[in-house]
Amino acid sequence: MAVTDPERQAPSLVTGEKHHGRTMHLTLRVWRQAGPDSEGRFADYDVPGISEDMSFLEMLDVVNERLASDGEEPITFDHDCREGICGTCSLMINGRAHGPERGTATCQLHMRKFGDGDTIVVEPWRAEGFPIIRDLMVDRSTLDRIVEAGGFITVSPGSAPDANLVPVPKVVADASMDAAACIQCGACVAACPNSAANLFTAAKVAHLNLLPQGEPQRYQRVESMVDTMEQFFGSCTNHGECEEACPKEISIDFIATMNKDYLRAKIKNRRYLSRNP
Ligand code: SF4
Ligand code: FES
Repeated sequence: MAVTDPERQAPSLVTGEKHHGRTMHLTLRVWRQAGPDSEGRFADYDVPGISEDMSFLEMLDVVNERLASDGEEPITFDHDCREGICGTCSLMINGRAHGPERGTATCQLHMRKFGDGDTIVVEPWRAEGFPIIRDLMVDRSTLDRIVEAGGFITVSPGSAPDANLVPVPKVVADASMDAAACIQCGACVAACPNSAANLFTAAKVAHLNLLPQGEPQRYQRVESMVDTMEQFFGSCTNHGECEEACPKEISIDFIATMNKDYLRAKIKNRRYLSRNP
């Protein structure tokens, strides 16, 4: 936990003294909730001396250090890599998933994006599929259920083949890589008025289905993952908020591809089953 990390208790981080940029005086309005079944509420914190060079999570570290030294309960929030890879830093900032900067995860958002004297409202993801664990931390394991339903290849890949043995058009390889950039953060769900997980599921389906290695299980995969998604999340009605909120700027075009494959799967899988009862 950041509070017990000596690196993060260094004076520079607490006071901003070693930062050369301006410092800011903020009001932080944070959702506090002791547990899944507790009633939540917003709490206001006066936060002076925040360097514009800090990341948003470093700012929360500072607040937590101050809370801990005052004998108060620190704010629980999820984080791990702090470099835009793991997808755990799931915060709604001023009503926007991951905050005001497009294509940026909360951990890579800097305080210079805010103004001195601002009030910043910080909430957890709000979606039925993401129950609150405590304060700003939610349970996003429903996304794991979708990946478990088909986000894998079951054939043994064997040893690495020669580079050009399985030719893949560059445009297809690029699209697969774009889809694979999904970090499973759940911002798309949090931003969607229907709490739909279609952008996430479409990205996970596409990054395998586009490649020759994923082709044999293409229709089983899409049917299984979409059916699992529908158990936990709402339906997509093309608002497009997911694409806006996505820190990896994943295109909603993948949703169209997924829908097309899902429709085909309903026919193809039945044909397969009729031949193989
Ligand atoms: S599609 Fe984008 S917003 Fe949704 S989980 Fe993946 S990275 Fe996050
Ligand atoms: S902490 Fe890993 S993506 Fe933000």
